[in-house]
Amino acid sequence: MLHKQLNAFPEDFLWGGSTSAYQLEGAWDEDGKGPSVIDLANHVEGVTDFKVASDHYHMYKEDVALMAEMGFKAYRFSIAWSRIYPQGDGAVNPKGLEFYSLLIDELLKYGIEPIVTMYHFDLPYALEERGGWSNRATIDAFEQYAKTLYENYGDRVKWWLTINEQNMLILHPGSIGTLNENMTDPQKELYQQNHHMLLAQAKAMVLCHQMLPDAKIGPAPNIGVIYPASSKPEDMLAADNYAAIRNWLYLDMAVYGRYNHIAWSYLVEKGYQPVIEEGDMEILGQGHPDFIAFNYYTSQTVGESKNDGNDYSHTGDQHEIVGEPGAYRGSVNPNLQTTEFGWEIDPVGFRTTLRQIYSRYHLPLIVTENGLGAFDKLEDDGTVNDEYRMDFFRKHIEQIQLALTDGVEVFGFCPWSAIDLVSTHQGSSKRYGFIYVDREEFDLKELRRVRKNSFYWYQKLIASRGEIR
Ligand code: BG6
Repeated sequence: MLHKQLNAFPEDFLWGGSTSAYQLEGAWDEDGKGPSVIDLANHVEGVTDFKVASDHYHMYKEDVALMAEMGFKAYRFSIAWSRIYPQGDGAVNPKGLEFYSLLIDELLKYGIEPIVTMYHFDLPYALEERGGWSNRATIDAFEQYAKTLYENYGDRVKWWLTINEQNMLILHPGSIGTLNENMTDPQKELYQQNHHMLLAQAKAMVLCHQMLPDAKIGPAPNIGVIYPASSKPEDMLAADNYAAIRNWLYLDMAVYGRYNHIAWSYLVEKGYQPVIEEGDMEILGQGHPDFIAFNYYTSQTVGESKNDGNDYSHTGDQHEIVGEPGAYRGSVNPNLQTTEFGWEIDPVGFRTTLRQIYSRYHLPLIVTENGLGAFDKLEDDGTVNDEYRMDFFRKHIEQIQLALTDGVEVFGFCPWSAIDLVSTHQGSSKRYGFIYVDREEFDLKELRRVRKNSFYWYQKLIASRGEIR
């Protein structure tokens, strides 16, 4: 739809940036922090691990000052569960509690709204040893952890996110460490874990509303529009299957407390349906989000499954191998360009995604990740000329404004990432930030912070409330 006049971004729009604990903090075993599954996983060869990352644990004051200089209204970060509970449950680590308390105070000092993700991929390793998300006791551990966060930070934190990209944890478990190959039926087990995470999320939402009536809480999956590979009706049906399995399973449960019927029929067909204990559906029905946070990097394209052994294929994100015999086959979108890392760039798909989510759930939306990974270069004159990043954001922010004009309620944009950090699999050379961190994969140098050109660009954009792009 073409609009002659675009709605302005709301005055209180939460312009900001996003990060996660294990990708930014470093200090992986300091001050009593327990190891997480990420710390003990085999990391990809040839790239750095997460032990030091951007050393934000020691440099957070400088980092927050830079975010404030950019004009951030909000900062979305995650709390490392094993910094608070080194064993996942049991004894609390006071130094861990203190770190996030200081960080929150530092943000509030500059009027930056903290948006806290409770769990971003880094399950405490001690819990994993006891079965991780396969063990229902992890649901209780998460509830206890949530309670501790509300007790300690609820006086200052108004925005809470439960689990980052639960759908990616389930759909790409090998890459994030949730897949236990030793299990007899790993795929079925994953959907059991998924069920437990959904219960944990519902419980955390209920508890938040009980303990902090003024706070708001929501899920944070990765959502992207799914295109059919052609206008063939069978391809459209395949796209619908994938949308149900990738996107709506997670949001239908978070919002309505029920399994999406297409996703459920897929689980039954494959024999992956989880065991639902008595009382589970009541718990799931009690958790209601106040908003939906979602991460968007790209769209996906799929076609009809041919069931010929070749349904699995790379799609919009070269990282993702997509396909499901009998349901859909991965495909590429010939209309889109890709990033240096092979991820399809689709700003218009962003608008469609915003519209689709809002039409389904009618809840306010916040974008908690969106961004461009690139090999940025620090020039001899001290500049980082990341025009490609500005171009990427320009196009995506334009689509938010169009979606706003379409009537979608969007209240914030926190792109990935506020500052350079270590990518999930492609090391520290794959950079996303507005602030450059001067380190290499295996040479930490001084971890100096440098303002990229996009830093100044984003500063102007925020000051003009999204007008000057
Ligand atoms: C999201 C994750 O999936 O994508 C982040 O929530 C991640 O943790 C981001 O860093 C970008 O992916 P990558 O693989 O380029 O780091």
